[in-house]
Amino acid sequence: MKLQTVKDIDLQGKRVLIRVDFNVPLQDGIVTDDTRIRSALTTINYILEQKGTSLVVMSHFGRPKGKKDPAFSMAPIAKRFAELLGRPVKLASDVIGDAVQKEVAALLPGEVLLLENVRFYAGEEANDVDFAKKLATYGDIYVNDAFGTAHRAHASTEGVSHFLPSVAGFLIEKEVKFFAPLLENPDKPFVAVIGGSKVSSKISVLESLAKTCDAIVIGGGMAYTFLKVQGHTIGKSLLEADFLDVAKSFLDKAKEKGVRVILPVDHVCAAEFKEDATPVMVDSTDIPESLIGMDVGPKTLDLIGKELKAARSIVWNGPLGVFEFASFAAGTKAVAKMVGESQGTTVVGGGDSVAAVNKFGYADQIDHVSTGGGASLEFLEGQQLPGIKALER
Ligand code: 3PG
Repeated sequence: MKLQTVKDIDLQGKRVLIRVDFNVPLQDGIVTDDTRIRSALTTINYILEQKGTSLVVMSHFGRPKGKKDPAFSMAPIAKRFAELLGRPVKLASDVIGDAVQKEVAALLPGEVLLLENVRFYAGEEANDVDFAKKLATYGDIYVNDAFGTAHRAHASTEGVSHFLPSVAGFLIEKEVKFFAPLLENPDKPFVAVIGGSKVSSKISVLESLAKTCDAIVIGGGMAYTFLKVQGHTIGKSLLEADFLDVAKSFLDKAKEKGVRVILPVDHVCAAEFKEDATPVMVDSTDIPESLIGMDVGPKTLDLIGKELKAARSIVWNGPLGVFEFASFAAGTKAVAKMVGESQGTTVVGGGDSVAAVNKFGYADQIDHVSTGGGASLEFLEGQQLPGIKALER
């Protein structure tokens, strides 16, 4: 997949309309994780370095449901953006309307205007043509660098591309560069580590990855549904009874294809699902009646370690246990370390696993930590992301 990027288009003297994903966590008006803002700076700085360019930046923040809600204003994000960019960022008074049009028209070369939250208007999520056309009047060229929102066919991620020459930013280019080969021609052996609580939300990823993977590690809450299918006792662990057939059919297909599926062979359990619950080691695949599986055990980690040591490509999505609780974080922490130490190409996607590599300090050792949660999952499912497809036209 070869995308046209900002490098393939003449930007000189142009007003550039860029979509970024500045949907960042905020607490008391302060951005608590600015990774997504920093990740867009390479593209933004490149555009501003071209002679005579000015920039209109658009993003959503949260889910204000098509209504202007001050709690979802871009104001605190504009402040952090300006600090990181090292130059002033003007915050537009709105998203559309006469006042914004004047603010855009008044932009001088080198200036940056951040629109208010595009989700203040229902036309954004409805991908309304008129709304998209209004956004398109703000620029001569449209750049999409919002990988985290590329799975949404919204006016600012898809609609606007119908009305302006459209190219990708460097962040989207980088995300695609790391994710696409995993589904096409990964360096082998290719090992996927898929965790998380629900089979229902990960089954499409498992099925998609089974086409190119040599081994798939299944951990987290969803592992117990798979163990149950294999005839093991799982105590009071999470079970998606409606997905037992789906889990069985996945295991059968993986076996047919020769894909090794690594499931937990030992566990760290608890009698109650509580942060301060006492950890109980269970040195067997079967979990006693009274216990809940909370994390993988050391023997499972040995098996995972062997696979990851030999791997030349690794993708990791989803925690191996309840890593938010210190007593049940060892499995996820150990996997973060193993992925970090791997000599192969390593890609981590999905909110919780990204949070884990950050929390345990391994993010810098990973080749690519995705800025997309839902977007990276849908990419790995083999779905075409509307925000990226729009740039391929
Ligand atoms: C995200 O945080 O995953 C993206 O910004 C998309 O947000 P959404 O799920 O509200 O569309």
